[in-house]
Amino acid sequence: MISAKDFIPSKYTHSVEEGNFQWSAPSNIALVKYWGKKDNQIPANPSVSFTLNNCKTITKLAFAKKDISTALNVTSNSFSFDLLFEGQPKEDFKPKIQKFLERIEIYLPFLAAYHFTIDTQNTFPHSSGIASSASGMAALAMNLMSLEKALNPEMTDDYFFQKASFLARLGSGSACRSVKGSVVVWGNHANIEGSSDLFGIEFPNAIHDNFKNFQDTILLVDKGEKQVSSTLGHDLMYNHPFAERRFAQAHENLDQLISIFENGNLEEFIKIVESEALTLHAMMMTSMPYFILMKPNTLQIINAIWKFRTETKIPVCFTLDAGANVHVLYPENVAVTVLQFIKNELVGYCQNGQYICDEIGNGALLN
Ligand code: PMV
Repeated sequence: MISAKDFIPSKYTHSVEEGNFQWSAPSNIALVKYWGKKDNQIPANPSVSFTLNNCKTITKLAFAKKDISTALNVTSNSFSFDLLFEGQPKEDFKPKIQKFLERIEIYLPFLAAYHFTIDTQNTFPHSSGIASSASGMAALAMNLMSLEKALNPEMTDDYFFQKASFLARLGSGSACRSVKGSVVVWGNHANIEGSSDLFGIEFPNAIHDNFKNFQDTILLVDKGEKQVSSTLGHDLMYNHPFAERRFAQAHENLDQLISIFENGNLEEFIKIVESEALTLHAMMMTSMPYFILMKPNTLQIINAIWKFRTETKIPVCFTLDAGANVHVLYPENVAVTVLQFIKNELVGYCQNGQYICDEIGNGALLN
């Protein structure tokens, strides 16, 4: 079994003075949710997600080796980097990146030897309530791996992507599911070969055509800042009265999804996905302190989806992440009808009528 130690490099065969890379990495939407973690970003339960296609972060990483006199003084934690968001310096993002670099330095010992310029932008609107930490950390991890590959060109593709996911996880847990597509599992699961707590893997078994080009229309219900950070939320699963049962349920739900992905049974798919979304929010409502991230319009949308599904028998469902926005999931062959339903009946519940059309995608790309 692969352990964290396997990602500590022994020595580099090449040297690189300066250069730049640019990677884009997509967001992802979990079907079985990750909520609760152990030390070092190890998930309390396995999760599975659809990688998205249109909501992504594009990050350019420029690097230049520090001169020797500075390099001799480099001690751990003395990272040197500039951070630009949409072309403008963004000081308030820096502490998060600093912490990330500290966490991963042992796996990328070259970090302190370079000055970096990290230039990042999202394809989705800023403060849309869509978390950019998954796509952002994944895009940065990809770039850092490109630099490591330049220092060690013999690196295999498998190692490259596995380590990129491993590093992204240390930035933001769910980011490890944004490296690859189109269905990604993160966390040990007894019946999924190769699954690991350390990184995300492409779902290794058969996936029915019903899930090909699966659609995700994201309804922006509330674009406000999150009331509760996901870090705090995960922490509230310690001593949570339902934690152990919830973690076991995630294993069971993922187990069921293995056969659902294979046989394409959308009715069963919907049951698991909607139950997972509501369970995630139920965990928040039953923690101490307790909180509610859904808004009245979140519930209006859920009820409208249920009514539409009952009336039309069209297999459309919802999921939620840690916020009020609703992800509407449906197969490609009903896209025209569902989109019309969204425009007629759901857009009125969105803040400023905003929504984003996305679909299942293939993971990070070198631009
Ligand atoms: O990656 P984090 O620490 O921001 O946690 C994300 C948790 C959820 O989005 C609520 C669920 C998930 O599995 O993505």
